[in-house]
This record gives sequence, structure tokens and C-alpha cells, in this order.
Amino acid sequence: MTEQQSKPWAGRFTEPTDAFVEAFTASVGFDQRLYRHDIEGSRAHAQMLTHIGVLTQAECDSILSGLDKVAAEIAAGEFQWSVSLEDVHMNIEARLTQLIGDAGKKLHTGRSRNDQVATDIRLYLREEIDAIGAELRRLQEALIALAEREADTIMPGFTHLQVAQPVTFGHHMMAWFEMLQRDAQRLVDCRKRVNIMPLGSAALAGTSYPIDREMTARLLGFDGVTENSLDAVSDRDFAIEFCAAAALLMTHLSRFSEELILWASAQFDFVDIPDSFCTGSSIMPQKKNPDVPELVRGKTGRINGHLICLLTLMKGQPLAYNKDNQEDKEPLFDTIDNLRGCLKVYADMMATLQVKRDNMERAAIQGFSTATDLADYLVRNGVPFRDAHEVVGKAVRHGVESGKDLGEMAFEELAQFSDAIHEDVFDVLTLRGSVSARDHIGGTAPAQVRAAVARARQRLQG
Ligand code: ARG
Repeated sequence: MTEQQSKPWAGRFTEPTDAFVEAFTASVGFDQRLYRHDIEGSRAHAQMLTHIGVLTQAECDSILSGLDKVAAEIAAGEFQWSVSLEDVHMNIEARLTQLIGDAGKKLHTGRSRNDQVATDIRLYLREEIDAIGAELRRLQEALIALAEREADTIMPGFTHLQVAQPVTFGHHMMAWFEMLQRDAQRLVDCRKRVNIMPLGSAALAGTSYPIDREMTARLLGFDGVTENSLDAVSDRDFAIEFCAAAALLMTHLSRFSEELILWASAQFDFVDIPDSFCTGSSIMPQKKNPDVPELVRGKTGRINGHLICLLTLMKGQPLAYNKDNQEDKEPLFDTIDNLRGCLKVYADMMATLQVKRDNMERAAIQGFSTATDLADYLVRNGVPFRDAHEVVGKAVRHGVESGKDLGEMAFEELAQFSDAIHEDVFDVLTLRGSVSARDHIGGTAPAQVRAAVARARQRLQG
């Protein structure tokens, strides 16, 4: 990246750029990853310019084949990126002109790097959203499969991280599915606003050429064109929106991670994360650490940070384009890279997670998780709910003192707390009775989990 080349804007200047300033202001080190989208945008722009008579067909053909060559050089790692040419846009244009001569100099007619970069990022982000959506779906499918397999598996449900009521593991997995489903919808919605074309806004005010923006948009697969040139060159809302969706998605993955880390501990011992997703300790031979979920939880910090970074980047900018916007790329790229990585590793990991059914069920038995069921039973037998609550509270206290769960007490022991307790009380005190009773849409009953799984599969189709 050392080769000195003359800058396209050198005409107005009498002194060369300070060497440090050149490096300081350049973005080619990171925006070269936009090269395919930059070339795609240029191809469409050239075709449109030809259509309106600004370029001849011969010039267009030469530009298109020149751009193919540039793309091939970059893909092969043979392209000489030059810092003195500042960014991906000027590097590609300069090389094109080197390859094809004067026709290359005509490509930039009726456009500016300001609408060009905004277009490139949108094309790039659109593609990434689709890839992220596919990875997210793979994770959702893994969760659905796990939920179906473990629809009857009982675990303690928690509030305040204290045992609350028994739930099914399948139900718990489907809770995660729901969070991800909202994330998927947010990405789909965000994509609608990403897929609008700013090209044609030129530097800020539009262009005096009779451009056909609809044509360019069609060639590039955009759903429409931006309505205001000043807004279009300066708007990065779409990137912020994406980062917000990413931050929320990562926040969900971070919550899952926290649960997996707890569940994999010797104290919970609910799941086994396969060895291939864990690492050991260099000093403690017994350790098997849940590194993958820990790292995902940790990466949530930087992704949340990128959202704040972009919001702060925009907050003081007057219209229209400002160089500040060059700072949008690294946070966006880092968000994408890490989000994709987290989703991939999670989809693979969840497909192989081992569930320790007996341990979960044993944990659900401890902790009086059927206490609410006993209260509901009393209510059904005519006891007002507040009184029932009191009765069960006393029974639990007795259980704590005698070291027995409600279901482990003798009938006489339980019956001393209320006349409304009969022999059939044990039907509701079992874990299975408790979960099966919650048999409505959104409830934890195995039958409901299976129904939710079937609906989830349908929703993924739609
Ligand atoms: N590298 C610039 C960016 O990322 C491209 C646009 C530069 N435009 C300009 N007028 N300096 O935003």
C-alpha cells in the first residue's frame, strides 16, 4: 500500500497531503471489504449512464470488463491497495482507469463518494442480514428439535433464581425460541429500511444529469429509492437500527449463556456441554470450562458498545455528509463478524447439548415447587385463595423443619393443615401432575410444548 498515486481531488490543492494525515484520514484498510458491493454499484451506475446517453455502449462495455478484472485481482489478493488513494472507492476507480484508460474517468459522472459509500454499505448489510438470518434460523431449528425431544423432561422453573414451579425443559427451550423469533422479525423489518437506494443523491443535492434512479435500483435489487438527497447521504439510521437489533439478539444469547454456564456447573449439573465446545485449565486438571457461552456473554459487551458508538457518532452531525461517517464501518463490521460467529457456534452447540433429565427432575422435587398446585387444589375445594396461601405456607414450613417435600409427606401430616385436603391431593403434588395441569396456550404442559413446536415449525416456514 505504498505506491504514490495522484488523488482524484488533487486539482484544487497546491501542497501534498501530510504523510500522517494521509494515513489518519484513509479508510482503505477497513473499507476494502466493501469491494464487491462497490463494484456492483459501479456496474449498475455505468449501465444507467449508458441508458441515458452519458456513456457510449463501447465505454460501458469497457468499464464492465475492466471492473471484472479489478474484482478478479482483488479476489486473488493481487490488488495493490494504496493509502494515498484513501478508500476503496478511489482505489478501484484509479485501477479501472489504469486498466481501460479514459472511459474509467467517466464512471464517476453524476455520483459522489457520498452516495456511493452509502449505497455500498446498504448492499453489504443487506447481504449480511440474510446470512445472519440463515444462521439464526439454524439455531431456532436446533432449539425446536431439543424442545420436541425434551417435551416431557421436568426441570425446576425459577423466579429470583429460587425454585418456583416445575416446568418442562422443552418449554424452557421454546422460551428461547420466542426471543430469537422476535430478533428474526426485527432483522426482517430492519432489512426493509436498509434496502432503499441512496445512489443518485450525489454529493448532497442530487445531480444535473437526467439520471434514471429507478433503473439503477432495479439492477441492484433495491426495493426503492431514497426520497431526499440530503438525508440519503448522511443517514446511517439503518446501520444503527441493525446494531440495535444485534445488541438485543446478543443480549438474548448472553442470557442463554448465563443459564448454560449455571446448568453446566457441578452445583446444578443439568446439562453437559460437549467437550468440543469447552476447554480445560492449564493448572487444574479436573476443569471443563464452558468457554463458548462465556465468550458469547462477554462479546455482548462490545456489541452493545458498538450501538452506543454509532448513536454517538451521529448525534452532533449537521446535514449532509460529514467525514465522521467514515467511522461507521468498523463498529458495524465488528458487530456483524461477532454476531455471525456467536450464532454459528450456538447453533452447533445446541444441536449437541446433552440433557441430564434425572438431575433436573430431582432438583424440581426439592424446593417445594408444587406449593402453588396445593394452593390451587384448596381453592378448587372451596378455600379462598388467601387462606389457601396461608395453609400451604404452614405446610411448607413443616416441610422445611422435617426435611420433606410436600409430595413426600404422609396424608395425615398434610391433612392437619386443612379440612379441604383429601386423599386425592397427591395427584396435584406430583411434578407430572403439576406441569400437565398447565394445559393452555403458552403453558408448560408437554402437550402444549408439542403444539408450540408444531406452530414454531410453521412460523419458520412463513
Ligand atoms: N471513505 C469515506 C467514508 O467512508 C467515503 C466518502 C468520502 N467522501 C468525502 N467527501 N470525503 O465515508
